[in-house]
Amino acid sequence: MYYELSNHWKIPGIGFGTWQIVDQQEADRAIEMALQCGYSLIDTASKYKNEEIIGDALKHTGADREKIFVEGKVWNKDRGFEKTLAAFEKTRKKLQLDYLDAYLIHWPASALFYEDWAKINAETWRALEKLYEEGLVRAIGVCNYEIEHLNELEKSANIKPMLNQVEFHPGTFPEEIYRYCCEENIQMQAWSPLGNGQLLENETVKKIAGKHKKSPAQVCLKWCVQKQVIPLPKSVTPKRIQENISLGDFLLTEEEMKQLEEIV
Ligand code: A2P
Repeated sequence: MYYELSNHWKIPGIGFGTWQIVDQQEADRAIEMALQCGYSLIDTASKYKNEEIIGDALKHTGADREKIFVEGKVWNKDRGFEKTLAAFEKTRKKLQLDYLDAYLIHWPASALFYEDWAKINAETWRALEKLYEEGLVRAIGVCNYEIEHLNELEKSANIKPMLNQVEFHPGTFPEEIYRYCCEENIQMQAWSPLGNGQLLENETVKKIAGKHKKSPAQVCLKWCVQKQVIPLPKSVTPKRIQENISLGDFLLTEEEMKQLEEIV
């Protein structure tokens, strides 16, 4: 299943998260398993400090470049026009790719820490626009952006963000930014869609999973999918990698969606 971004570039409906994968052997096994199971979106970030091993792992699989969708992110210390361009080049080399499918700003500079936060974000965004115009990235976007950050960015941007990746899982439903992104045709992605694994012991999740004869992880992921948000579950365990992409066509009821939303 794919979504179409606002620039008509297609993006897979589920992705594979790589946060906390730190070892080459583990990366090789996990990425190979993920591609075999049908994931094609691989979500990375320079902050994860594993771009080299993910790049090597992708190379070892011999995957057809056109058939995978690789995402990267610029970290906070690299904000600004020149620094972002330099950071992108490092990322591209480490991942051993000619182009990235999506490149995102990892966190906005916020008013809490920077007086000139809006200018910093605008400059970082200008670098992403340049990379996009040069064909080095197929889509550009942001992560963890609130409405005020997007509104401010709009004032100087030539290109609208195509993606916004935020924390999104049962119990954490950022309703305002979700509605805004739906209206503005900004595709949302979910980081930690399993609540970093902690949601899987939740009684509400387990009860709903039992009713559908699915696992708690599958219920959390389906909750994202039914909201048309792209989940990016991370796992290095073969059985779980498979389980997380084998959601099947079961549907959560409106009542169940609501119960999951309201988990505290
Ligand atoms: P592991 O990598 O050891 O398999 P999130 O994507 O929300 O950040 O969650 C990642 C955490 O959830 C990891 O600790 C991962 O463990 C665990 N995890 C991923 N998929 C499953 C699953 N299907 N069942 C149980 N735990 C899972």
